[in-house]
Amino acid sequence: MKADPAKMFPVSVKKLKAEDGAPFPLFLFLKKNNKFIPIRLPGDPLGLEKYQQILEKNHLELWVPNNFQEVFASYAEYLTTTGQDPVEEIEKAVQKVEEKNSEQKLSPTNEALEETIVKSEEAELVRDAIEDEELTPEEKAQVLSSVSQDVLRALNQITTRGEAARKEGLQRCKEITDEILMIAAQDSNIYEEIIALRNSQEEIEHSVLVGTVAVMFGLALGYTDDKLLADLTVASIFHDIGLVRVKPGVLSRPEQKWSTEDRTEYEKHVDASVAILKESDTEFHPRVFRMIAEHHENYDGSGFPKSLKGTAIDESSALLHLANLFDRLCTGKQTGTDLSPKDAFDYIYDLVQDADAVQEVNPELVQRIFQFMLTEKDAADQMKEQAAERVKSASKNV
Ligand SMILES: [Fe+2]
Ligand SMILES: [Fe+2]
Repeated sequence: MKADPAKMFPVSVKKLKAEDGAPFPLFLFLKKNNKFIPIRLPGDPLGLEKYQQILEKNHLELWVPNNFQEVFASYAEYLTTTGQDPVEEIEKAVQKVEEKNSEQKLSPTNEALEETIVKSEEAELVRDAIEDEELTPEEKAQVLSSVSQDVLRALNQITTRGEAARKEGLQRCKEITDEILMIAAQDSNIYEEIIALRNSQEEIEHSVLVGTVAVMFGLALGYTDDKLLADLTVASIFHDIGLVRVKPGVLSRPEQKWSTEDRTEYEKHVDASVAILKESDTEFHPRVFRMIAEHHENYDGSGFPKSLKGTAIDESSALLHLANLFDRLCTGKQTGTDLSPKDAFDYIYDLVQDADAVQEVNPELVQRIFQFMLTEKDAADQMKEQAAERVKSASKNV
């Protein structure tokens, strides 16, 4: 729900008792998105654990709809007359957050975060699901998978309605996935760099597209760990950065015309990408290096640089590989002809069915992503509706 402060009043977290089933709904205000998120229905206790989570996220206030003002007043009076003070741990937690807030001024990174306004409904739902502390990991996975499915389906349907419709559809998909990419990247320590890259010119488009597609595939598989999604994004964005150390003459020639020496020179970019990130001042999770190091390893062992095979290749590396392949097919780098997203999906699908073809990615993983897109939509849609319904009923009094 978009923020309308006139309809809500703030309540200090300290004035609530974690164990009490307060007779009013409680909302969190997400400043960066200018939005209220319902966190508790009337009568539900907040719970000590949740209470502490809220404080850890530096929310010292929760919000209550104006039409619950009287109810809140009598609740406050009840707490005063019964003399029930917040438990000691909560007092300490509140104090810690207050001290931290007074020391900390908003850094540019925080300001950049504040400016991130989600535009598409799909991205909004992804963000809400990731941030919703009420949803179980399974529910989150269902909601996220369903959203990714919608986008992937939209991608898939951009086919026969003519060039203008195709362009418009691709643009729309790009906007949605771009926003989802930003949500995934928010948990990264190089968020600002990603914003800068995203706004820069065409040469970075491949990285951004690979990132968005990899995150979409991850969501389709039900990945809900925001840190893993952030690392998948970071690895996707920087997977080819090592190309800057490859002789320019090689890259200016089409791949189909490369000599053996050219190919060897090109293959150096994998190690170079890892080296460049290691040389930087930024700290990356080890799995970022692994994803990049393995982004050209093929499931059947025919890839490079280490000719790894089968399960020796991490699943997240395979997702990055698959996203990379998808973009290479769409941009003609793989076959010499630009494929539409639908044709790229068909191409990959045919590839995994063909026993004689090079198996770049575990066929079972491809099947899981594709099968989800084709057959499990009903269950996911149902879960999405239930989640939306719950949010709606929690906010109908506002
Ligand atoms: Fe690469
Ligand atoms: Fe690439």
